[in-house]
Amino acid sequence: MATIGKNMQKAIGEQVNAELYSAYLYLAMAGDFETKNLPGMASWMRVQWQEEIGHAMKFLHFVHERGGHVNLAAIEAPPAEWDSPLAAFEAAYGHEQKVTARIYDLVNLATKEKDLASLNFLQWYVNEQVEEEAQTDRIVKTLRLAAKAPGAMLMLDHHLGQRKSGS
Ligand code: FEO
Repeated sequence: MATIGKNMQKAIGEQVNAELYSAYLYLAMAGDFETKNLPGMASWMRVQWQEEIGHAMKFLHFVHERGGHVNLAAIEAPPAEWDSPLAAFEAAYGHEQKVTARIYDLVNLATKEKDLASLNFLQWYVNEQVEEEAQTDRIVKTLRLAAKAPGAMLMLDHHLGQRKSGS
């Protein structure tokens, strides 16, 4: 197996940073929900935070297995608060769409570099992004339905609080 190429290593290193930013963003949303007395949504966001750490670690492990190294860069600060649960989940959905575009860029780079190991590895992320986008989009749509009924918002908060790690 060939050592990972410099271009691929650099691009994956940048993706590690992007995944850690995602984690940081969802941790900030969890904090905002805690402050606004929505513990279920806060808990959902903490599960998401853990997932993002997992995504970053999986990339790091892959680079190391291929004999490479990632120089960790500074992580950008996320916003501190959002206007409403809908605004937060809309931001989460928009963020996941950007992450998907980044993963597709990595796939295109791996194709260009004829790096079949990276190409194969990245398929997991292509599939994961389908789920990441679908779940946030579903919550956005439910929040739009709940917008006119405060009771529905509390029920949704309770429901989202049931999410367990790995789901
Ligand atoms: Fe790591 Fe939410 O994608």
